[in-house]
This record gives sequence, C-alpha cells and structure tokens, in this order.
Amino acid sequence: MTVATRALRVATSLSLGLAAAAAGQSEPSASADQADGQPVAAVNPTPYTPAAEKRGRTHYLRHCQICHGFDGRALENIDFEATDLTDPERWRFGTSDGELFRSTKFGAGLDMPPFEAELDDEEVWDLVHYLRSIGPEEYRPAAQPEPASPPAADDREENRP
Ligand code: HEC
Repeated sequence: MTVATRALRVATSLSLGLAAAAAGQSEPSASADQADGQPVAAVNPTPYTPAAEKRGRTHYLRHCQICHGFDGRALENIDFEATDLTDPERWRFGTSDGELFRSTKFGAGLDMPPFEAELDDEEVWDLVHYLRSIGPEEYRPAAQPEPASPPAADDREENRP
C-alpha cells in the first residue's frame, strides 16, 4: 500500500470517528453495554511514540496476556474465546481508538472485564497504542517524535533500579 493510500485510509477512518463522536453516538457500538452513555475521545490524545508503546506493553503483559495471550492472538486459550487483538477485521466492538479505549476501560461483551479500577485513562490510551503496534500497519497512527525534554516521568521511573 502506498503512503498516500494509507494516509487516505487513516484520514477516512478519523473523519468517520469524528462524525460519530459529533453525532453523539459510539458507532458501530454492537453491545458494549457497560460503556453506555460514557463519553470517550474518538482519537488517542497521547502521541504515538516508542515510549508510549512500551508503557502500553508493560500494562498489556500485566493485565491482558492472561486471556489474550503473550502475542495478543489468544491462540493458546481454549476455555473461552478471547479476541485476537492483532486482527481488527474480527473485532466486534469497533476499531477506532475510542472504541478500543471503551472496550478496555468498561469491558466488552460478556467476558471482557472492565479495567476502570486498575488502569487510569492515560494507561488505557498507552494500551491502545500498544494494540496498534501489534496489529496491521494500516491501522497504526503515524509515529511521532519523542518530546525533546524533559523525558516523560514514566520513562524515568522505568529506569530506576
Ligand atoms: C478475563 C479474561 C480477559 C482479560 C484479562 C482481558 N480480556 Fe479483553 N476480552 C476478553 C474476551 C473473552 C473478549 C471477547 C468479548 C466478546 O467478544 O464478547 C475480549 C475482548 C476484548 C476487546 C474487544 C475486541 C472486539 O471484538 O471489539 C478488546 C479491545 C480487549 N478485549 C482488550 C483487552 C485489553 C487491552 C486487556 C488488558 C487491559 C484485556 N482485554 C484483558 C477477555 C479478557
């Protein structure tokens, strides 16, 4: 896929997301019942940087891999079907940043638990970036440069012994 095509696709999905947000609905919505009435930003407010992705990976390994698998593909899980998080074509509750945020924070379907109590909003947005990083390239936001200075507080913490 050319860069231009990709940019067009990203722009299209962004404007669809914004239109949905403007209309006050969370389409396609399916049945993420637990999030009903909760306003969620359509686009990830955190810049897509390697540091954000790394923070998201840490949260993923701690909270999500137990069901979705080390690599996000949930293949080794035979008890129930946790979604393959690397394959947006198969997601039932939407593919926009806001919808990923909503599924993570408020839960999805019957078996995806809400993480409202464990993760704050910034951590959930970092997780959304991590999910983008393990998914197909055309769903990924454009990478942004690391902020020059000062480094994010989280990064400094990670470097401590
Ligand atoms: C207790 C097991 C479990 C844990 C832990 C878990 N999930 Fe899930 N998750 C599921 C199941 C099962 C589904 C499928 C729900 C359905 O389709 O009805 C799901 C669905 C999802 C979806 C919606 C996919 C779609 O179809 O739209 C997202 C996004 C998601 N999980 C992200 C996460 C993230 C991020 C974490 C970690 C913070 C996490 N999950 C932790 C079990 C889990």
